[in-house]
Amino acid sequence: MRFDAGMHIPTLIERKRDGGELLPEEIQHVITTFTAGDMPDYQMSALAMAILLRGMTTQETSALTLAMLRSGRTLEWPQHAPMRVDKHSTGGIGDKTSLIIAPLLACDGVWVPMISGRGLGITGGTLDKLESIPGFRTRLSEAEIHQVIERIGCVMVGQTDNICPADKKLYALRDVTGTVPSVPLITASILSKKLAEGLDRLVLDVKHGSGAFMKTEAAAHELAQSMVATGRTLGVRAGVRLSRMDEPTGEAAGNALEVIEAVRCLRGEGPQDLEDIVIDLCAAVSISSREQLHQLLHSGAAWEKFQAMVAAQGGRPADLLRLADIHAAPVIHELRADRSGRLMKMDARAVGQAVLELGAGRARAADSIDFAVGCDQIAKTGREVAFGETLLRIHARSHSAAEQAAHTIRSGIQIE
Ligand code: URA
Repeated sequence: MRFDAGMHIPTLIERKRDGGELLPEEIQHVITTFTAGDMPDYQMSALAMAILLRGMTTQETSALTLAMLRSGRTLEWPQHAPMRVDKHSTGGIGDKTSLIIAPLLACDGVWVPMISGRGLGITGGTLDKLESIPGFRTRLSEAEIHQVIERIGCVMVGQTDNICPADKKLYALRDVTGTVPSVPLITASILSKKLAEGLDRLVLDVKHGSGAFMKTEAAAHELAQSMVATGRTLGVRAGVRLSRMDEPTGEAAGNALEVIEAVRCLRGEGPQDLEDIVIDLCAAVSISSREQLHQLLHSGAAWEKFQAMVAAQGGRPADLLRLADIHAAPVIHELRADRSGRLMKMDARAVGQAVLELGAGRARAADSIDFAVGCDQIAKTGREVAFGETLLRIHARSHSAAEQAAHTIRSGIQIE
């Protein structure tokens, strides 16, 4: 390679370390070199740390997003294909909204090529939830993705090896070098994967609170602003909804338990907070009004669409109403109120930690997960509860695991 002082990686690291700006072609060079295996991990780690400490301009973040997008393939759609839309959530406890949003939006005539992730730490992952449906395939070839979307209007799959390989490699490094919580790096990581879907519109659900990646509203706002500005620069209309994640979304947390709740919501049977978030997020990218979306959810149209997608991806729709039997945990423990009063707190972090310890999540990427365990019938805050009333049910593999989970959750409950 020709020596080019501007492309000397240590010089670029030093410039960013000292608060300078990197040019789009320099960022492209870094990502190309790193993805090809020609830039050592220690240099990329140093650069990621410099970015975390010094930040990036919108122009730099856009260049990084584009370079990561170009590191792999993107889904290509026919010229006159319907509009493509999707939502991305920064993740939380009990967040099963994707399972409802994809089929609901597809009822609207748009296409939803949803590429989702797995759970890590206390937050669950859409792919893990879907895989609790026997036979459901989340690894589809590009040709299969096209077939399903052309026939059904929505598809829910994992990131293939060909999509944003630079992000895969960089995220693995960030995960072990303390460089995950950087707004530009998160923005580029999320948007590159979403842009690879060939989207026209995207809605971002940025959560903040005890059970979220972003702990404060200010941090969530900063990430939201960065994603909207970067999306705009790259030609995607991105809307944002900031939402609190102090208590779990809906009334269930855990893989199969969340699919069961999503099915309830798709059949128009709530719970209300879950339905409200779903309608809000869909309304931000949909061509239909909130009333029309509500109607699609309550008429059974979205439920039919979900069943069609499950069948197209290898599952049996009839199993959706039998998941409680298919994944029955041996122990169901009722956690009861130890006093009467108003339920002030049902801490999302405590519930998420308990669900992780029960085996529903992974502490490390290579861990296996248990579809059956978790919590359901989780009481919502603001309600009056009576002494001895059930506040939630814990589904566990053993009595000792259930007791440990109850102990963890109790530390996050407040009744006044
Ligand atoms: N999720 C992602 O996909 N990337 C990040 O950097 C953080 C959360």
